[in-house]
Amino acid sequence: MILSIESSCDDSSIAITEIETKKLIYHKKISQDAEHSKYGGVVPELAARLHTEALPKILEECKPYLDSLRAVAVTNEPGLSVTLIEGVTMAKALSIALDIPLIAVNHLKGHIASLFIEQDAIFPMITLLVSGGHTMLLRVNDFFHYEVLATTLDDSFGESFDKVAKMLGLGYPGGPKVQEYAKNGDSERFDFTVPLYNSNRLAFSYSGLKNQVRLAIQSLQELSKKDKEDICASFQKTAIKHLLHKIKNVLKKLPPDLKLFSIVGGASANLSLRENIWALCKDYGLELKLAELKYCSDNAAMIGRYAIEAYIYKYFTDIEDLQINPKIISK
Ligand code: KG4
Ligand code: ZN
Repeated sequence: MILSIESSCDDSSIAITEIETKKLIYHKKISQDAEHSKYGGVVPELAARLHTEALPKILEECKPYLDSLRAVAVTNEPGLSVTLIEGVTMAKALSIALDIPLIAVNHLKGHIASLFIEQDAIFPMITLLVSGGHTMLLRVNDFFHYEVLATTLDDSFGESFDKVAKMLGLGYPGGPKVQEYAKNGDSERFDFTVPLYNSNRLAFSYSGLKNQVRLAIQSLQELSKKDKEDICASFQKTAIKHLLHKIKNVLKKLPPDLKLFSIVGGASANLSLRENIWALCKDYGLELKLAELKYCSDNAAMIGRYAIEAYIYKYFTDIEDLQINPKIISK
């Protein structure tokens, strides 16, 4: 079995995965949403302190499995430095105490592996990764190799939901809140411009859209619930239109070996995004693969799924070489 740890942002999570069967034997996650909500976003120092409380508490429950462990895996990049270090320190201690190898896991590769928890993998595929830190369109060849086709020039998709929610006083994380408000809103009321619509550039951008929302809020004297719902609906529609517009440019020139499309990351839980991508895949004759909703946001089960593959290829990292890389996107 492999014990995997995730602490790249505001979720403390540990999983135990059986190497041969890929079975998830144990999985627990303690989220810090409530603690950060009053600040409208993640406060790194607070997140780190909460990890120091939560991770040992979860590890305690893993005691019955410790003797069966063959490796310990941990997210070491990208993420918040003060929270990554919490998981990495625990992983190093376990590696020394149990005399088992360490597997360093890139968080984005972990999100890709979330598609295949307790399952065999299928490659190649085009993957849309939408989280709080990233908005990327990737060609994924296998667990270890991917090519970045497009990335964001500024804010990420999930981050723009968080910022809109903050401006409207809806709390954190913003994605689920904006989605909820959008459900009852009029998406035609605010005519937001789709970012980079007339540009050939294969990239994403969300800071301009965020500013359009800011101006719309400023133009209203006092915000009623209806105003907030209409802003959320109009914003969400435009944010998704932007993704679809750029993805279409890639799908038009897709090589014939690519028949699979997938969406991963916390914001892939957005139901309107899922519906729109599903329709798009149908138009282009592609199969759509989605992670289970419970594995979209950060979790250690996805880190464990990636770690099985790394274990098979013996991609281990020496304890003195295991560093945290807050900003690194891919290797
Ligand atoms: O992958 P994740 O848990 O953490 C990072 O790696 O960043 O993603 C969290 C992000 C947050 O920005 C959150 O607002 C967004 O995912 N998110 C959503 C939804 N659920 C979570 N965004 C839009 N719609 C949602 N339903
Ligand atoms: Zn994530």
